[in-house]
Amino acid sequence: MHPFCAALLLAFFIHGHSVPDVNRLWEEWKQKHDKSYSNQTEMNFRRAVWEKNLHVVMKHNQQATEEKHSFTVGLNHLSDMTAEEINEKLNGFKMEEHADYRNHTSKLSSGVSTPASVDWRKSGLVGPVTNQGLCGSCWAFSSLGALEGQLRKQRGVLVPLSPQNLVDCSTVDGNLGCGGGYITKSYSYVIRNKGVDSEEFYPYEHQNRKCRYSVTGKAGYCSSFHILPRGDEGALQAAVAAVGPVAVAVNAMLPSFHSYRGGLYDDLQCNSMLVNHAVLVVGYGSEAGQDYWLVKNSWGSGWGEEGFIRIARNKSNLCGIATFAVYPSL
Ligand SMILES: *[C@@H]1O[C@H](CO)[C@@H](O)[C@H](O)[C@H]1NC(C)=O
Ligand SMILES: *[C@@H]1O[C@H](CO)[C@@H](O)[C@H](O)[C@H]1NC(C)=O
Ligand SMILES: *[C@@H]1O[C@H](CO)[C@@H](O)[C@H](O)[C@H]1NC(C)=O
Repeated sequence: MHPFCAALLLAFFIHGHSVPDVNRLWEEWKQKHDKSYSNQTEMNFRRAVWEKNLHVVMKHNQQATEEKHSFTVGLNHLSDMTAEEINEKLNGFKMEEHADYRNHTSKLSSGVSTPASVDWRKSGLVGPVTNQGLCGSCWAFSSLGALEGQLRKQRGVLVPLSPQNLVDCSTVDGNLGCGGGYITKSYSYVIRNKGVDSEEFYPYEHQNRKCRYSVTGKAGYCSSFHILPRGDEGALQAAVAAVGPVAVAVNAMLPSFHSYRGGLYDDLQCNSMLVNHAVLVVGYGSEAGQDYWLVKNSWGSGWGEEGFIRIARNKSNLCGIATFAVYPSL
């Protein structure tokens, strides 16, 4: 929503003339996001969910102007879905609690000297922002994002890799396509398969299809992966500085995350107990004395800061960002 529209709408709410303008906003939102519903019952339900989200957004942003929050939220393509639906359909990160990762323990640790800020986008190690659609394939976007960075370092060109390749072909390795998957098992597939295709050769379709990997389209490979010490933000910082973009999992359960628009995300309810969504840390920095992680999501460029989110750093592992961090090696 245009900031002016938000201000106008707020004025209407305050003066109690909300209905016609909410109707107009709903029509505009549906058009912008190309929404159509199969029947009236479905549409009424979606409209009710959307309107509830609209109220939450307006209230939060009003509080943000009173400096009660350091981030803003907004309507986006997910605004007609409930938090439960988003968590079920999009947040498909899985974690093996009891796997033996001894051979994959990273030797990087906290305490090493690192630059005050890093942004791998500036060095061309980060590909274009993508949209996973209504498919729990975040794990594929996250793991390949880190691999694209390593390949770019080696070859000097960034070639987007194919999440669809992983969705379709890594079931044997334990992934479940749009039903969810593991960052580690993505790398296991690329290692076992001795390659992964490019996005251009094997385009994304946001649904499970049969495996169509072909060596003709091969654009990347991987020989191992390395898991950082659990919950250690210092080690994550060391890895991001020394290696490049790192695949991580975060707690993306909260509505404030779903509708994040911009600023420093520091919702204290975003605990580190449960991580359900895989994303990519592409840097870190500080702003006005507050440290943040620079994170690439796969929910399109209409979400967050052009597809990115800044999550508070060094704040007791907020959102569990350092709970399960992994980087590949070539
Ligand atoms: C309306 O559409 C929804 C979603 O496609 C579907 O689940 C539901 O059965 C439909 N209801 C009717 C009455 O057709
Ligand atoms: C770890 O590596 C050793 C030596 O290569 C190998 O024998 C062992 O099976 C590996 N363990 C696991 C759990 O993969
Ligand atoms: C995190 O905060 C602690 C204490 O506030 C500080 O000692 C440490 O250097 C900080 N680490 C990073 C990575 O900024």
